[in-house]
Amino acid sequence: MFNLVIFGAPGSGKGTQSERLINEYGLHHISTGEVLRDHIARDTELGRIADSYISKGQLIPDDLMIRVLASVLDENPEKTSRGVIFDGFPRTIPQAEALKKMLEERGTQLDAVVGLEVPEEELVQRMIKRGHDTGRADDNLDTIKSRLDVYHKQTQPLRDHYIKEGAYHAIDGSGDTERIFADIKTALKK
Ligand code: AP5
Ligand code: MG
Repeated sequence: MFNLVIFGAPGSGKGTQSERLINEYGLHHISTGEVLRDHIARDTELGRIADSYISKGQLIPDDLMIRVLASVLDENPEKTSRGVIFDGFPRTIPQAEALKKMLEERGTQLDAVVGLEVPEEELVQRMIKRGHDTGRADDNLDTIKSRLDVYHKQTQPLRDHYIKEGAYHAIDGSGDTERIFADIKTALKK
């Protein structure tokens, strides 16, 4: 079993690279952003709560997000048996601690953290473009600015946390997606 966190700022390519990793390693992909957007689309109670945070570019409170992740993890035990790519979780130190505990309770552990590092101007350009192309609701300039601000204040400290644990693999996340994927595979082979 191999569990991986794909880490990085909004727009850094977590979803894009996760798709390639699923095909290569047969891992199950859990994107907390996608889970929440699905609830918003179905207009569930969780969706309505999530929308009130996502539309402002803020994080869903830790206790709620941790409960959501635990239930997604237990929904499909057969799918997660080879391991999981966690995309967009954890985003805070309490979430990282909760993930560690959740995996331990299920007899497994976190094996690697892949950090996609992309200059800020490129992140903004990518998200603005996606906003135009797909209409994703939080891809507008005001919300993008809040998402980046929240990333710097609440999520970036996790990078140091995982560097200290020796689990963090920094990847240059700008440029050609195939080259980025090749760099990730090289890092994971170590
Ligand atoms: P989430 O859905 O996780 O969004 P995000 O972190 O802002 O990241 P994105 O999905 O926008 O980007 P990505 O890194 O996946 O990049 P992608 O591959 O799509 O979270 C959304 C919201 O949900 C949060 O703001 C928060 O409110 C809430 N939430 C989620 N998880 C939470 C948690 N754990 N705790 C609390 N709240 C939570 O690529 C981006 C674009 O760039 C795409 O168009 C892609 O085609 C393009 N692209 C990718 N790679 C390249 C490349 N190499 N060159 C050029 N373009 C590229
Ligand atoms: Mg994503």
